[in-house]
Amino acid sequence: PAPGWTTRADVVVVGSGIAGLTAALRIHAADPSLHLLVVTKDVLAAGSTQWAQGGIAAALGPGDTPEQHEHDTLVAGAGACDVEAVRILVTEGPEAVHELIALGTQFDHHPDGELSLTREGGHHRDRIAHAGGDATGAEIQRALIAAVERAPEIEVIQHALAVDLLRAADGGVAGLTLHVLGEGQHDGVGAVHCRAVVLASGGLGQVFSQSTNPSVSTGDGMAVALRAGARLRDLEFVQFHPTVMWLGPDSQGQQPLISEAVRGEGAFLVDFEGTRFMQGEHELADLAPRDVVAKAITRRMLDTGKPHMWLDARHLGQAFWEKRFPTILRVCREHGVDPVTQLIPVAPAQHYASGGAATDLWGRTSVAGLYATGEVACSGVHGANRLASNSLLEGLVFSRRIADVLPGELRAWAEPALDERTEGLVDGDHRTAMQDVMTTRVGVLRQAAGLAEALDHLHALEPGEAEAGPAAWETTNLLAISTALAEAAALRTETRGSHWREDFPDRDDTRAGHVDSWLDADGTI
Ligand code: SIN
Repeated sequence: PAPGWTTRADVVVVGSGIAGLTAALRIHAADPSLHLLVVTKDVLAAGSTQWAQGGIAAALGPGDTPEQHEHDTLVAGAGACDVEAVRILVTEGPEAVHELIALGTQFDHHPDGELSLTREGGHHRDRIAHAGGDATGAEIQRALIAAVERAPEIEVIQHALAVDLLRAADGGVAGLTLHVLGEGQHDGVGAVHCRAVVLASGGLGQVFSQSTNPSVSTGDGMAVALRAGARLRDLEFVQFHPTVMWLGPDSQGQQPLISEAVRGEGAFLVDFEGTRFMQGEHELADLAPRDVVAKAITRRMLDTGKPHMWLDARHLGQAFWEKRFPTILRVCREHGVDPVTQLIPVAPAQHYASGGAATDLWGRTSVAGLYATGEVACSGVHGANRLASNSLLEGLVFSRRIADVLPGELRAWAEPALDERTEGLVDGDHRTAMQDVMTTRVGVLRQAAGLAEALDHLHALEPGEAEAGPAAWETTNLLAISTALAEAAALRTETRGSHWREDFPDRDDTRAGHVDSWLDADGTI
């Protein structure tokens, strides 16, 4: 639809988690004369950052080094990481975390004043900084929002869904269309003319029926990038968190995460016979990288015909639970399980998109003036399987890098060129069936016939005449990203990291390259 209102800003940041707010704060600090606009689909705190439990990984502890963090990241990434990007992540990480502290983030400390660091799957050192026990993301989000509030020059529009990029005649960024719900002068569909867009809009969890991601994670940024001509990369590498609380066979949408830090503090997995099945699976047993644990749980569920396994954390004791994991304790009890005295039912559920809009080492996508950072991006640091607690760090480090280059390479103002595409929208009613097919055919376990069935289902959902509005935009985005993801999963005929093919059970290094997704002129992905 034609925009009902227009406005201007030099730079639009889409998303308000750690990646978006860091980008906004740092770009503002680099050049306070730039008009910066942050748009976010819900309220500032609604994204995935707020939900992060375990923490943020960085080589901050005695005896730890960026080289060791690099090693663990590359091992988890299963041969698909960009080594240079990983080196940047681990070497710039400690300073970036100190900057978060300087901004006001209150991480947990030992009584002697040292930062309290824990361990999660795939880490050989204690290097996860955490806050409020298991409320790290919420504390980081609080500190970042407070910092943005101290910089009133940064304009914010909430309840604003990014619809599409406006491109200039040369194909580069000229603006962005938004659908805003009830925010005063910016109500309805409008256009922001701008010189750069930073996508920091998070992941795609709602592609699947069960996810740890909040409801806003509908792959919007990836879909905007795809339709704008940018390349997406590594979409098949979807991480399934091993220990998500199992709420019953019919539970859908966001599910409660039981942080790996609980296993980091000594909890362990058992089957219905009480057998500790991670022992013998991997040298790190219950603290093996997340793909290894998720696969072992899934295998044990299939072998025993059970819908979940169990996490035993009873020996941690009431006092420790209350101090170290107050959020998880509360949520478990709300769902009728007391982890101090009972086993927690757990099963893998979608958790993180390791792929996304392909970027260079400075967050640039393949479209001039379009940058991406955080979960929406594929910077190359996660490869086939993200190492625990590297996600907050990625958003932080690469948003700082975008802010280092963006002010110096801003495009000239350009008029949006006419967009002659005629594609329609998908009705929101198709969403649940799409999520079901993605979960059963493109979930933890994949094989050619199931992937083909999923693609048949998705291809039959031609965008049409659905009424324009957030539900239809989101469902259209979910369809585009589900299709790209299923195509990528079908193309990767090997098992690597979080991508598990039953029909190609081994890693095949002749197929180690990336799978890119893009939109052809005829609209096919
Ligand atoms: C967790 O706390 O287990 C999640 C951490 C992460 O996803 O990095």
